[in-house]
Amino acid sequence: MSIIYKSPREIDLMREAGRAVAGALDLAETLVKPGITTGEIDAAIAAYFQERGCQPLFKGYKGYPATICASVNEEIVHGIPGPRVLKEGDIIGIDLGAKWKGYCGDAARTYAVGAIAPKAARLVHAARESLDLAIRLVGPGVRLTQIGGAIQQYAESLGYSVVRQFTGHGIGTAMHEDPQVPNYVDSTTRRSDVVLKPGMVIAIEPMLNEGTYETETLKDRWTVVTRDRKLSAHFEHTVAVTTDGRDVLTKR
Ligand code: MF3
Ligand code: CO
Repeated sequence: MSIIYKSPREIDLMREAGRAVAGALDLAETLVKPGITTGEIDAAIAAYFQERGCQPLFKGYKGYPATICASVNEEIVHGIPGPRVLKEGDIIGIDLGAKWKGYCGDAARTYAVGAIAPKAARLVHAARESLDLAIRLVGPGVRLTQIGGAIQQYAESLGYSVVRQFTGHGIGTAMHEDPQVPNYVDSTTRRSDVVLKPGMVIAIEPMLNEGTYETETLKDRWTVVTRDRKLSAHFEHTVAVTTDGRDVLTKR
């Protein structure tokens, strides 16, 4: 494992990438409505990045074909945008990343399509809360197991499960750097625990499921769904560790 520390100048560049990411997620929020297709949202975000002069981070990554990931209802992550039409009551996780002058930003939010069922709203709220409480913990001297443990404890106290197959990650000039940032604790995550230090930048991205945390990958080889086809919600921010706390880079 080798963690790459970022200088204040590099963190400024990551903040610029992060601003574009936040702007794109704000744009997505205005577009998510019954009747739009996930492909139309993808095209709008691609145009937005082009206008801002930044590169989409996901397109071409291991052959990924689109700018955003659009994961609807039981889809957890990596849903490929296309002809699917959003309908009232759906929830949609939109995950996207941008590169600016060689530096990356990565974030995700889950949106309601029109009016959604209370149980869907509760899950989305819990997933957002789990990310927020994780971010509040970030600072020098904090261990990743404290963060993962807090997410897991909060989610499970509400009866939700935390996806284990995917974790957050270090981020810099590459989308995925060391360390992995798990949203749960077990003997393996304890063994690979990391103490946060100033200059580290991590993407924290909890995925909370209504039912089992077990996943399945669809035949398109990308879309990851819950094994029991119950709902899943996902939020992500790119966060720098500072000398006295944290700096959320994927905000406006
Ligand atoms: N936020 C996800 C991640 O950090 C997005 C990757 S999607 C991919 O892994 F298409 F680029 F793989
Ligand atoms: Co990520």
